[in-house]
Amino acid sequence: DSTDTLMEGYNMKWTRLAGVAAFVLLFCAACQPKQKKETTPAIVIGFSQLGQESSWRQRNTDSVLEAAADARYRVLYRNGDASQEQQIKQVRSFIISRVDAIVLAPIVETGWSTVLAEAKKAGIPVILNDRNIAANERRYITSGVYTDAVGEGKKAAAFIKKKFADHTGPVRMVQIYGNKDSSVSAGRSQGFTQALAGDSRFQTVVVRYGDFMISKGEEVIRQLAKEIDLKNIDVIFSHNDDMTLGILKYLKATAIRPGKDIVIVSIDATQKGIDALRRGEINADIECNPETGAKVMNLINLILNKRQFEPAYYLEDKVFSEFDSNLSSVQRKY
Ligand code: AHR
Repeated sequence: DSTDTLMEGYNMKWTRLAGVAAFVLLFCAACQPKQKKETTPAIVIGFSQLGQESSWRQRNTDSVLEAAADARYRVLYRNGDASQEQQIKQVRSFIISRVDAIVLAPIVETGWSTVLAEAKKAGIPVILNDRNIAANERRYITSGVYTDAVGEGKKAAAFIKKKFADHTGPVRMVQIYGNKDSSVSAGRSQGFTQALAGDSRFQTVVVRYGDFMISKGEEVIRQLAKEIDLKNIDVIFSHNDDMTLGILKYLKATAIRPGKDIVIVSIDATQKGIDALRRGEINADIECNPETGAKVMNLINLILNKRQFEPAYYLEDKVFSEFDSNLSSVQRKY
């Protein structure tokens, strides 16, 4: 019993002591000057997208915005409405806002030097997205993630060669480009023409611009039908699916059966393009991969952390055509 009482007294003494110690500790902690929470300011990116002319463009915009959110970068997103002037203003506003990096999808190849030199002077890296600018203006940019436009043109030509392998006469072709003076129109036509050079059967007889839009594609082919007899045309190489959809809309209201009487080769491989390919209305659809986002953010990360990076990155593109056996399983995001 006396041992129990002794232990009880002993325990009580320790309990009281522990209580006092805890109070002193709490009191001292309260007296300490409050330490500021260290938070790193968010990286801010200015993103000037050239417009929203096509479903490809919408997916490309989402790809960049989603990847920026994943990287926890803040984005000032601006739509250039297919105007270089607008895009120049947007880049200038990013410089004034002192963003950490600028992502620019340039509508045309030339005329950027002044504003890009301003960005360079302000120490803000500029990364091109999808389209390129002229070689003599590239000294102002840091790097880029590009559409392989030349490669896409070559892939379109490879399909045409296969399709017309046994054809003996001339192959008369119409090319519908997208935006005038854009790197993708130039690159696709360059790749296409180069790959077919040396085979005199292939002749591009007409070139028109359709601004990568459904309405313009329809308008351009309607106008062309007034100028030439489309029955004498063997191939239409349309530089994107949106213009192709406009062309199909027009042709389907005539006696010319697209995909049968006239071979249609398109670019992008959107869901609607693939659906038209499955219906036999177009013969080949060359992918233009819109998923630049992750590569762009990775590049920004390397640049801002002063790590090594390449001057240019390209996306891989697939080819879908009437020669494929598994078209029914192809699912696209855009
Ligand atoms: O620059 C890429 C091209 O622009 C795509 O092929 C087209 O759909 C887009 O509008």
